[in-house]
Amino acid sequence: MPDASLSELDPFVTDALALIEGLSTLDAAREAEATLIGRRSPLARWQRSLGSLDPEERRSAGALLQEARRTLESALEARVRALGASERLTRMESDALDLGDVVPSGVLWTLADGRAGLVARTQRELEDVFVSMGFRVADGPEVESDWYNFEALNMPPAHPARGMWDTFYIELGEPETVVLRTHTSPTQIHLLEEAVANDSLPIHSVMPGRCYRRDTPDARHLATFHQVEGLVVDRGITFADLAGTIDTFTRAYFGPDISSRLRPAYFPFTEPSAEFEITCTICRGEGCRTCSQTGWIELGGCGMLDPAVFEAVGVDADEWSGFAFGFGIDRCAQMRHQIADMRSLIENDVRFLRQV
Ligand code: FA5
Repeated sequence: MPDASLSELDPFVTDALALIEGLSTLDAAREAEATLIGRRSPLARWQRSLGSLDPEERRSAGALLQEARRTLESALEARVRALGASERLTRMESDALDLGDVVPSGVLWTLADGRAGLVARTQRELEDVFVSMGFRVADGPEVESDWYNFEALNMPPAHPARGMWDTFYIELGEPETVVLRTHTSPTQIHLLEEAVANDSLPIHSVMPGRCYRRDTPDARHLATFHQVEGLVVDRGITFADLAGTIDTFTRAYFGPDISSRLRPAYFPFTEPSAEFEITCTICRGEGCRTCSQTGWIELGGCGMLDPAVFEAVGVDADEWSGFAFGFGIDRCAQMRHQIADMRSLIENDVRFLRQV
């Protein structure tokens, strides 16, 4: 290495250190690393020319080049570390949610993160189907008195049918008088009472909402789940109207390929009563763990309103007749999206959440 070159080493290092100090992005730092200490850098060129020096000069010039390289390497390393930390911070700041931000409803649907869950979306889809069929959407309380959850629904105290639902009681007032509703059927009573008070019959409403049962979670059950109740009260309503409504709903929501059937059943507040089933979408009717090898999945119960319910709320059963139904919303989501185990809906596994 000629003396002239060595005399250029110090200014080169000084300029390089100033350049490193001024780097403002990680990309720029990567480029600077190549220019300052890479294979085509002046340092590398000086290194290659060492071979032409005599051994004594080679040793001292080599040591100087080594030191210059270490100085630049450690300056670059420090700058990269600082830039990395500040870029991470900027990213965290820009990704952060502003918890005080007010998002107008409706916009929520378009956000990549923080969208509505599958059950909430299913509920809205079901509401849309029923609204397109001429129903209004209403709701009711989740904490109910014994009157609404049982008694007005034709289940006086100690009626054996109360055992159909394993109930959570709330300690308020007399023991076993306040419950977490076991089904959405109490909303029937609220709507009927309101219609009687306001003299506003007929009713064509659906009432979606959350229900609670002391059920052990399994492939088709949760302890907290959702139902959509339907209530039609008008003059001259027959079982054919009920069957037609359920058939129209099934085709609209599940498509024409899914078969449905009504099977005789018992509910104290409807007579006659039926259970409503569809072909299991997991096995397409072949039989699997989800449908307990039957090929069918029960979606809900339904029937013609029992005159005892009309009597409890003061509706004239000679003038009015009606039907009611109650479907599991989580069950509908499960069948529509072929979810083998309903517990996936509440486990919050991000691999599941990203798919739905
Ligand atoms: C009832 O709850 C009645 N109230 C339905 C009814 C309404 C009948 C109006 C007549 C007139 P059942 O207990 O079968 O019935 O529940 C109805 C549906 O809710 C079930 O078919 C199922 O889809 C859903 N369901 C019930 N229990 C659970 C649970 N633990 N987890 C998830 N879904 C459930």
